[in-house]
Amino acid sequence: MALTFDVVVLGAGAAGMMAAIEAGRRGRRVLLIDHAAKAGEKIRISGGGRCNFTNTGIEASRFLGANPRFALSALKRFSQWDFIERINRAGIAWHEKTLGQLFCDGSAKQIVDWLLAELRDSGVELWLGCEPGEISRDSQGFRITTNRGLQSCESLILATGGKSIPKMGATGYGYKIARDFGLAVTETRPALVPLTFAEQELDWIRPLAGVALPVRIAAGKTRFDEAMLFTHRGLSGPAVLQISSYWREGEAVSVDLLPGGDPAGMLKAFKKQNGAAGIGTALASFLPERLAKHLAQRLGPVRPLAELSGEELERIGAGLRDWRLMPVGSEGYRTAEVTLGGVDTDGLDAKTLQAKAVPGLFVVGELVDITGWLGGYNFQWAWSSGWAAGQVA
Ligand code: FDA
Repeated sequence: MALTFDVVVLGAGAAGMMAAIEAGRRGRRVLLIDHAAKAGEKIRISGGGRCNFTNTGIEASRFLGANPRFALSALKRFSQWDFIERINRAGIAWHEKTLGQLFCDGSAKQIVDWLLAELRDSGVELWLGCEPGEISRDSQGFRITTNRGLQSCESLILATGGKSIPKMGATGYGYKIARDFGLAVTETRPALVPLTFAEQELDWIRPLAGVALPVRIAAGKTRFDEAMLFTHRGLSGPAVLQISSYWREGEAVSVDLLPGGDPAGMLKAFKKQNGAAGIGTALASFLPERLAKHLAQRLGPVRPLAELSGEELERIGAGLRDWRLMPVGSEGYRTAEVTLGGVDTDGLDAKTLQAKAVPGLFVVGELVDITGWLGGYNFQWAWSSGWAAGQVA
């Protein structure tokens, strides 16, 4: 029986669309399938609606996985600069926000619309609302059952993403198919996710919901200098999302509320100038006022600074530089931006993302055991890995 397509791509997210465009450009007959009603939904909602589409500082140390260096081949062959060039050619205006993070000036929908136009120009067939099921392989290629009939192809690209945000169509389907073909899948867990706390710590955190400040947060040897946000459920903000990828159950995180500062010195200087003031007033000179007041309440009955010894101020300062917290977990896949872990890179060719033991099978994007930091790294991995598979599939 003749094959219905040369290439079938499962998952019309960032990685799947890029792979389909590239394969289509090579003249391959490509079918791109997604069970969602729209393509690229995560792109649309990403970066607060402006899509942080890449980062200028791409390097292996900003990726996690059993072997982060695996990602380098694809990231170098189709780099952030290559993606920026395409965005420029498409006339999509962008700006650098901070830390090398590039965002659209306008809506993230511009990127989705541009990718959809590229799919059309490359002759890719896009089937939305199409549910793939069982997949088998014979000497000719792959056979995929779908609710729109049996499809067959020479090359199959798995691009169904991770488990984060099930409400948006995330499933464990790609992991299952990979396993069915004998590929190993490393342990998966939610990452770039707010951390949650036991009631005792929450009692402390909850009244501060909405307060944000720059901090240095550390788990083990990893640390980030970014903003932290207190919420009704725990701690969030870029600093906490970043550290969540490294934190493990049973570990404490340490928060420095005045990174690089000398709070004890500042309190002593304040005391010299205004000994009659309370500690809350002194703390509010360098911390957000609500946080300062809250901390002051925790330190006991109000006493003028003049009554606090140098030693006491040292102790308070040290506490601000190393606030130890014991998260009990995270908000999970419901709000996680990405999934840590995935298809084991040992079984994949780094240059093409093809399964070493299953010629014609490719795995790209978040489904692979490669996870980036917050800040455009995950999209760049999706573009680069999708591009690499699209060159040969
Ligand atoms: P992605 O998840 O995008 O696509 C997978 C596709 O497969 C989906 O369209 C899904 O419907 C489909 N699918 C799943 N199961 C299927 C099945 N059984 N059958 C058929 N189709 C199936 N990253 C970044 O770099 N910058 C940013 O600004 C952000 N912001 C951000 C915000 C939020 C709220 C989230 C949740 C995530 C981000 N990310 C991000 C992460 C980024 O969205 C993510 O890394 C990429 O979308 C991964 O691209 P993929 O194409 O691999 O998967």
